[in-house]
Formats: sequence, structure tokens, C-alpha cells
Amino acid sequence: MSTSATANAAHDWSATQYLKFKDERTQPARDLLARVPLQNPKTIVDLGCGPGNSTAVLESRYPDAHLVGIDSSPDMIKKAKSTIPHLEFSVQDLNSYEPSKPVDIFYSNAVFQWLGKEERINVIKRLMATQPSGGVFAFQVPDNLDEPSHVLMRETANSGPWATKLQSVGRDTFQSPLEIYDQLKPLSSEVSLFHTSYYHSLENHEAIIEWVKGTGLRPYVDPLEPQEKEAFLKEYLKRLQGAYPSSVDGRVLLKYPRLFVVAIKQ
Ligand SMILES: C[S@@+](CC[C@H](N)C(=O)[O-])C[C@H]1O[C@@H](n2cnc3c(N)ncnc32)[C@H](O)[C@@H]1O
Repeated sequence: MSTSATANAAHDWSATQYLKFKDERTQPARDLLARVPLQNPKTIVDLGCGPGNSTAVLESRYPDAHLVGIDSSPDMIKKAKSTIPHLEFSVQDLNSYEPSKPVDIFYSNAVFQWLGKEERINVIKRLMATQPSGGVFAFQVPDNLDEPSHVLMRETANSGPWATKLQSVGRDTFQSPLEIYDQLKPLSSEVSLFHTSYYHSLENHEAIIEWVKGTGLRPYVDPLEPQEKEAFLKEYLKRLQGAYPSSVDGRVLLKYPRLFVVAIKQ
């Protein structure tokens, strides 16, 4: 099951919606970069750079490197170019992207989950094969498909009048840590994996919807008519209110597990 390409073609991402939770979304980018061991990389590519928030994190650590951001979303690239005009950004799909010269660090924060299961591992291996020895391929992906936020999204999709329309919507599960290790180790001198759960304190249950509207909810609500979308969101909110208790200050804690991988090219 992979609807990401279709969803991207029909409905572009919204940089504005995505950036509503900029700090929370950028923290894993910093945590991933902290585990990259290179001190003086010459060339870095931010794969799926979005609005440039992850690229800015790279630039602050490596101000002298040649830094490039690519993303398949025109809206994201427009925002990245206007925010960091001195860096190089271009609209490119990871499935067809070829680097023009060897890249010391391929870095990708919260992107590979959007590619189909086979596609993503093939893209990673294809790009790693072009890297010099000692180069780094570092990526982070959400591991939240079993969290109530995503289980309830699927349940809402399956149980309403929109069920037929949404029957093929959903993200492919990600490879397990062992599968990733087994796929990347033949190309790597070292493959490090780690897992972190963030707990984001959000204003209320509606804020969970605002969060996922920028990412995982898009393929579910984009195909719906305005009235259907409103009914879907109402039903989804009701389910979220039942699953996430309010905290002492009336806010809601959104658990957000993420998987990190840092591979060093052999
Ligand atoms: C969750 S955002 C991550 C943005 C940024 N890297 C960050 O750290 O916040 C995911 C990004 O992946 C991009 N994306 C999804 N599929 C892609 C593909 N096949 N090729 C390139 N970019 C893709 C989307 O357009 C979106 O900007």
C-alpha cells in the first residue's frame, strides 16, 4: 500500500500547516545530527528538506559545507528558498534523484516513511552506493503507526460513509531495525540505530489534529469533499478525546516514537 505519490501529485504539502509545530518537528533533526560523526564534510544533501528547517540545523553545524536541499513539494521548496535564500534548494523526487557529485552526508529527517516499502530501501542503497568511503547516510522516521493518533485515523477512515473512497489510503509500515541493519550493513562499516519517544505537550485534542493535518492525516482528508472532511474530523476528534486523557493543566500529551539510523559507508 503506498499512496504517497498520488497524494503528493494531487495535493501539495502546505509549508504553513507543517510549520505550526516547527520546534517539535525540528528537535529530532537536531538529535539525529548530534549522532553524525563527520567534522568537516564538503558536501551535504538534505533529502526531503521540507521548508528548510532541517537544512538550517545542518547549516548551523556545518557553515562551510556545500549544502543542498531537495524535496518533491513545490510549496515546501518555495518556503525553503525564501527562508534561506543563500542555500541551494530544488524540487526533486527521491525516487529519481541522482547526485551530481559525491556526497559526504546524506541526511533525511522525517521523509522515508512517505516512500513505498521497497522503494525507500532501494533509494537509500542506491544513494549510499554513490558515496565515498567514510561518508554518512543518516535518517530519522516516525514510528507512530501503532499510536492512538494513527490507529484512530485508520479506524475513522474505515467506519464512515467515506470508507470506500479511503480504502486504499495508508502508509506502508517501516522496515524493522533488524531489516534496516541487514539491508545497509553490506554497504557500511557501521550501522547505528536508536529509538526515542518524544512526549509533546499540546494545547488540547484539536491540536493533535492540527499536528497530523500537516503530515499523516493529509492522504485521508485530501480526497474528501468539504462536508465529508468536516464530518471525518469531528468523528476523529471524538475518538481522540476518548483515547488521550487531559493532563493536570488541561493539555494533552502526544507520545511520538521515532527511529534513527546512522550508517557509515564502507
Ligand atoms: C515531514 S516533512 C519533513 C521536512 C523536514 N525534513 C523536517 O525535518 O521537518 C516530509 C517531507 O518529505 C517530502 N517528500 C515526501 N515524499 C518525497 C519524495 N518522494 N521525494 C522528495 N521529497 C519527498 C515532503 O514533500 C515533505 O516536505
